[in-house]
Amino acid sequence: MTVVLRQEPLLSDSSETLDPQNWDEIRAQGHRMLDDMIDYAANIRDRPVWSPIPDEVRARFHDQLPLKPCDLGEVYREFADSILPYATGNVHPGFMGWVHGGGTAVGMLAEMLAAGLNANLGGRDHIPIEVERQIVEWTRAMFGFPKGASGIFVTGTSMANLMAVLVARTAALGQPVRQRGLGNEGARLTAYTSTAAHGCIAKAMDFAGFGSDALRCIETDRHHRIDVTALRGRIAQDRNAGLKPFLVVGSAGTVDIGAIDDLDALSALCREEKLWFHVDGAYGALGILSPVLAPRLAGLENANSIAFDFHKWGQVPYDAGFLMVRDGQQHRDTFSAPAAYLRRETRGLAAGSSWPCDLGPDLSRGFRALKTWFTLKTYGTEKLGAIITRTCALAGYLEARILAEPRLELLAPVQLNIVCFRYRADDPNKVNGDIVIDIQESGIAAPSTTVLGGQLAIRAAIVNHRTDVCDIDALISAVLEFGAQRSGSGDSLVLDVERSPPLAM
Ligand SMILES: Cc1ncc(COP(=O)(O)O)c(C=O)c1O
Repeated sequence: MTVVLRQEPLLSDSSETLDPQNWDEIRAQGHRMLDDMIDYAANIRDRPVWSPIPDEVRARFHDQLPLKPCDLGEVYREFADSILPYATGNVHPGFMGWVHGGGTAVGMLAEMLAAGLNANLGGRDHIPIEVERQIVEWTRAMFGFPKGASGIFVTGTSMANLMAVLVARTAALGQPVRQRGLGNEGARLTAYTSTAAHGCIAKAMDFAGFGSDALRCIETDRHHRIDVTALRGRIAQDRNAGLKPFLVVGSAGTVDIGAIDDLDALSALCREEKLWFHVDGAYGALGILSPVLAPRLAGLENANSIAFDFHKWGQVPYDAGFLMVRDGQQHRDTFSAPAAYLRRETRGLAAGSSWPCDLGPDLSRGFRALKTWFTLKTYGTEKLGAIITRTCALAGYLEARILAEPRLELLAPVQLNIVCFRYRADDPNKVNGDIVIDIQESGIAAPSTTVLGGQLAIRAAIVNHRTDVCDIDALISAVLEFGAQRSGSGDSLVLDVERSPPLAM
């Protein structure tokens, strides 16, 4: 059967493409957008950190699928009115919730260039892939990994941790696991991490087919680091029960309070027990750039794999997660899958194997490497390391202010850039939960919460390079004022959203 797609003669018609009819108009519109976004970053302190979303604004995003074209200027106006003012707020120096990087204008410009090139970094022979390989090489040097190590950009550390579990699985069971599945032997594999590890490790065990019960969460010491003696005991107990320990996941910066496991002790234990040693260094691994923090990461250089994000302490705009594997062959053995339509050549566009698609589940991949390359080259690792050191100094300043204030209570030792504390009150979990929401809704700052030993904590993670002493002071004032109101001991709130000018430390 012949399918006739079009009966009239096919004429050349530039209006059939998606390119603009008038390039000057889009250039002018583009310059306006660029100016606005540079102003946004430059004047970010004039804005609230976060704004509650009015119902009518949310309703604008329940619209019908657009069938007809709309003028770009009009669409941009919608962005400016309804999207930009209601973003997460992590560009703002007052954002201290979860673990969010601040991004930079340099990273933003690089993203624009990457989108212009529209490169697909799954594979093939083009310089964008060399840029990614350059970052792999820089990262290898940064962590002291040997030649032959491999690395790949992914969405974030959750994905990088999952991929590391898969590499460890293949290393333990051999490549046939990829065809036959885990089988009886796989069902006996057990992995180990601490109770303070991020939840994505248990998810990774679930997604990899082991089930999260195969992950043993070992208790922590008083510094919130994995108890290595207890870990050793649990490994022995599992071996005695006929199970097959295969993986230990250490944390370089726990999500709740920023504890760094004793990576040296973990690497020695893993060597002795012949276990895969993976480090979840989501934000903490880049502490290697800070001369102050680097000694505390000793042992990281012995890991079999490291997961971390350039979009956290590295300040690269979202997303820019990364997985580094010590033995590149083991990495490729886990993910490479030949296909006729991905045939490799020694010349032409299909040359340059191996390709990034041999190192992960994704085939189509964006050019995350470019914004990272621009960030590393423009600032240099010394400056980025100094920013990391400074965020920890700011956390120390916040700790000192809490210790000097009788109405506040520190809930965990401050070890890195995360501070957990609370306002003293009769019903502290309720009052402190309300305080955090009040502060977020006020636009003054954006801390988040966590629960430590049943106690709800106000949690401030200082990640953003723009955060300054005045932002810490604004957080403290807001906690005290909202706390007084929530616990019924304060006058009506008179909070000034305007901040004092930034101070140098
Ligand atoms: C220690 C730790 N591991 C893993 C993750 C998950 O990283 P991502 O959000 O990039 O997936 C985080 C996120 O904050 C984290 O702090």
